[in-house]
Amino acid sequence: MKKICTIIGARPQFIKASPLSMELKKHFNEIIIHTGQHYDYGMSDIFFEELSIPKPQYNLQMGGGTHGAQTGAMLAGIEEILLKEKPDIVLVYGDTNSTLAGALAAAKLHIPIAHVEAGLRSFNRKMPEEVNRVLTDHISSWLFPTSSTSIDNLKKEGVQQGVYDVGDIMYDAILMHSQRAKGISKILETHSLTANNYYLATVHRAENTDSPERLNNIIQAFGEINTQIVLPLHPRTKKQLKAFNFSFPENVIKIEPVGYLDMVQLMQNAVGVLTDSGGIQKEAYYLNKPCITLRDETEWVETVEVGWNKIVGTSVEKILKAFEDSKEVTTLDHPNLYGDGKTAEKITNKLLNN
Ligand code: UD1
Ligand code: UDP
Repeated sequence: MKKICTIIGARPQFIKASPLSMELKKHFNEIIIHTGQHYDYGMSDIFFEELSIPKPQYNLQMGGGTHGAQTGAMLAGIEEILLKEKPDIVLVYGDTNSTLAGALAAAKLHIPIAHVEAGLRSFNRKMPEEVNRVLTDHISSWLFPTSSTSIDNLKKEGVQQGVYDVGDIMYDAILMHSQRAKGISKILETHSLTANNYYLATVHRAENTDSPERLNNIIQAFGEINTQIVLPLHPRTKKQLKAFNFSFPENVIKIEPVGYLDMVQLMQNAVGVLTDSGGIQKEAYYLNKPCITLRDETEWVETVEVGWNKIVGTSVEKILKAFEDSKEVTTLDHPNLYGDGKTAEKITNKLLNN
């Protein structure tokens, strides 16, 4: 059996690992390295417990710090483990500092890299994620883009070898867990919510949380929306609210970050979603919910093209307009955009056979 080292560290990567690790373990000896980038119980352990993700063999506990310090420490830590484990393949997800550190450590040891969610581009090099994903794509041997747009992005950069159209692993995850969420989650009762009487929001992107002006605009717009908004608060945002001495108005129900089952349950019962998350834009689409994206651009352009996602940045006026317009969105066509939910199987087959 070939050995594969999977590098994960941040919340969305645990969710992506849930369907893929389940498939990989049938055919590979999978060693999971958790960098520790996310470390609170509600940002890490809860996902392993709820989603049956195998316990990582290693946890480097490298959360916090500046980008350089964090990525550098991870690079050294991962290299040490790869030297010991000598895997045949290193697998990384997405675009976080854990992704880049894992890919770089492998490339320098000449271990081939598989990149899940390859080819996504915001074309904004000020985003740390954009740098992480471009660099990772260019040193990977297997590239698993999510749609034809990401395949085209790779082609434009001259990356054509080893590119496989497999769809979105997060679609597998939501198909696997959305029914379970309905049966298990008690999040609506806990917060006295009923279906379709609230919106769900998340805010954590550095460009929003580190700018007092942008964060303040979001707070103002949420207040003017003046309907119940449930906001599971990312630790980064919590810190920044404190640092700027800002607070959300009373119609915003602030809660701790929740596990995936609660999150999916909150999404599937919300009227719509306001977010700057990458993953949640797609999940809103999978669950037929209109999405208002609090960013100036998106990698998930297909969701915008079909009209279910509106990119509004942090302009109060645009957020309010999109909020009004979102009521009409659910009558639009809803084509399949990101594969057929069998991405885990397809990735595993490619890794076995190429
Ligand atoms: C990271 C990713 C981002 C991804 C997000 C998912 C990078 C550059 N950014 O952003 O692409 O969308 O994860 O959520 O890799 N913190 C805690 N407890 C935790 C986790 C973080 O207190 O469990 C604190 C950290 O100490 C740090 C801040 O939150 O001060 C930000 O964490 P970090 O992992 O650096 O970046 P994210 O904003 O989470
Ligand atoms: N998520 C979650 N609990 C929360 C907030 C988000 O389980 O309190 C899930 C969400 O459903 C999605 C993933 O975390 O699957 C997205 O992570 P995040 O927004 O942190 O990162 P991004 O996708 O922007 O990189």
